[in-house]
Amino acid sequence: MNVNGTPYRTIWEAAGGAVEIIDQTKLPHQFVTIKLRSLDDAATAIADMWVRGAPLIGAMAAYGMYLAMGEDGSDAGLAHAAKTLTATRPTAVNLAWAVDHMTALLTPLAPADRPQAARREAARICDEDVAICNGIGEHGLAKIEQAWDAKGETGPVNILTHCNAGWLATVDWGTALAPIYKAHEAGIPVHVWVDETRPRNQGASLTAWELGQHGVPNTLIVDNAGGHLMQHGMVDLCITGTDRTTATGDVANKIGTYLKALAAHDNQVPFYVALPGPTIDWQARDGIADIPIEQRDGREVTQITGRQAGAGGTNDLVTIDLAPEGTAAANYAFDVTPARLVTGLITERGVCPATAAGLAGLYPEKAG
Ligand code: MRU
Repeated sequence: MNVNGTPYRTIWEAAGGAVEIIDQTKLPHQFVTIKLRSLDDAATAIADMWVRGAPLIGAMAAYGMYLAMGEDGSDAGLAHAAKTLTATRPTAVNLAWAVDHMTALLTPLAPADRPQAARREAARICDEDVAICNGIGEHGLAKIEQAWDAKGETGPVNILTHCNAGWLATVDWGTALAPIYKAHEAGIPVHVWVDETRPRNQGASLTAWELGQHGVPNTLIVDNAGGHLMQHGMVDLCITGTDRTTATGDVANKIGTYLKALAAHDNQVPFYVALPGPTIDWQARDGIADIPIEQRDGREVTQITGRQAGAGGTNDLVTIDLAPEGTAAANYAFDVTPARLVTGLITERGVCPATAAGLAGLYPEKAG
């Protein structure tokens, strides 16, 4: 997707064996790229959220295995890399999926052959993610077209999204935002309500930025506004991403998603969740019991980072305290939306009900 008119992916290979990423902690005020050269760099990039979003975390983990093999391609090096990367963030299953996949591919190979094999496979995973997200976009477009038809092709289709499930969360296109980009390209007028998404404000800093870069009309709202908008008929449909989907259709996504799904249900607003196949955890059947929920540093709640207002052109970032010194803060990063609140799952293979039968129908080879 475009940054100031130049097409970018979120992760790419750089000269000298490095892997380059966009440092998403600096957006929207600074566009900074970073070259990663080691396993530790890759692990830090995921843990400190220089890269984030389930599919991109998976792609980063795959490239992390490549960087690790360049440092130590032995069996011990492989095991250490897998353990280090898996420990970074627990909820997005794409991470474990990518690490397990790379481990299975590399284990039978001689240590000397592992670095190049890992590089090729990480690149393939990235290309596959782009193709998958493109497919999600095509299938989700049909849902936006339906909403457009239902409105008699008047006014924009108003879509509410939470967190950032756009191209910044994937290698390109995004999951929840892919159908929106496709609709925009197809000439369907869309308008996006962007939840700010406290505590890290991925909506305010990332979603608003990437939609703006593509000229998609959007309005930033506080996290608590969605229910009010739905009560007043100002939301035609919701589309969010997910970090882990159970085989039965429960979805874990950024904290606050569940409350939006409840409000949507109460107001008969369709609530769709967009996901790539690797985000399905086929072992998990009960989202609340089976999905590990990441808890992050309480300072993400008690503080906020941004550009100083009226800074006269400087883009330096400042962090300020919001709460009294010493305030206890709980920082649950994700919540689970039960399948019964989800209108449909938008995947690269089509749209299905959020049920075990629906997912099994699209992925018969996985459902067993
Ligand atoms: O904590 P983050 O920013 O990694 O959380 C991201 C989300 O919750 C996204 O909605 C999810 O990963 C789906 S991304 C296509």
